[in-house]
Amino acid sequence: MHTPPETIVSADTPRGEIALRERPDPDGTGVVHELVVAGVFAMDSLDTTTETALALESLARTTSPERVLVGGLGLGFTTWQVLKDKRVRHVDVVEIEADLVQWGRLALAPTLGLVSRHPRVSVHAGDVGPVLRGEASPTGPWDLVLLDVDNGPSFLVHERNERIYRTDALRAALDRVNPGGILAVWAAQREPALLTALEGLAPTEEILLDVEREGRRLTYALYLTRA
Ligand SMILES: C[S@@+](CC[C@H](N)C(=O)[O-])C[C@H]1O[C@@H](n2cnc3c(N)ncnc32)[C@H](O)[C@@H]1O
Repeated sequence: MHTPPETIVSADTPRGEIALRERPDPDGTGVVHELVVAGVFAMDSLDTTTETALALESLARTTSPERVLVGGLGLGFTTWQVLKDKRVRHVDVVEIEADLVQWGRLALAPTLGLVSRHPRVSVHAGDVGPVLRGEASPTGPWDLVLLDVDNGPSFLVHERNERIYRTDALRAALDRVNPGGILAVWAAQREPALLTALEGLAPTEEILLDVEREGRRLTYALYLTRA
């Protein structure tokens, strides 16, 4: 039988409830942290291979990834993987939930705390949409822009994030990436329309990642576009 998760901290936001929860891990030796955003389960720390792959696959395709933008702090796993690459000098993280930014500073979950207090990281509370259009700070440009703010355009948690995946917004985001750099988008499923839109802008790779979750095999996807 599963032990139900215990809420460490929660807050109500204009987008719904945000919460950090923990539960015993399956082998009973530690804890699994869970993040709830907009009132729904967003991720946990049990299997973060795809969040990590978003960073690794992008870093592997960039010769000089000195400046990186990460859209969506989450539990910090993408950013932590970026920081392990010593070529990276600075990471801007843009996170829409100010409460989560604060919980990071308080280190209420381990990786979240590590990245939030890291000397090579600046965490900005705000919507990454205007940042990608060059209408809000931080202003870039960056060598890598890694976006994991939602499940993907076909399965949104935040309806307003639909704008981030529009062709004009993707074109504006690519303009903020230095030549030779990468714009990378994480999705919880294949996104053929997104692939077509990105391919119309610049050379794009689709990388499929198989993950097993509670006995179910799922296929997540990464879209990597070269600036
Ligand atoms: C699934 S989590 C990201 C997980 C992260 N890659 C990791 O490794 O832990 C998605 C995050 O994006 C944030 N978010 C959603 N919409 C956003 C937006 N428009 N701008 C910035 N952050 C956003 C959510 O609050 C959440 O923290």
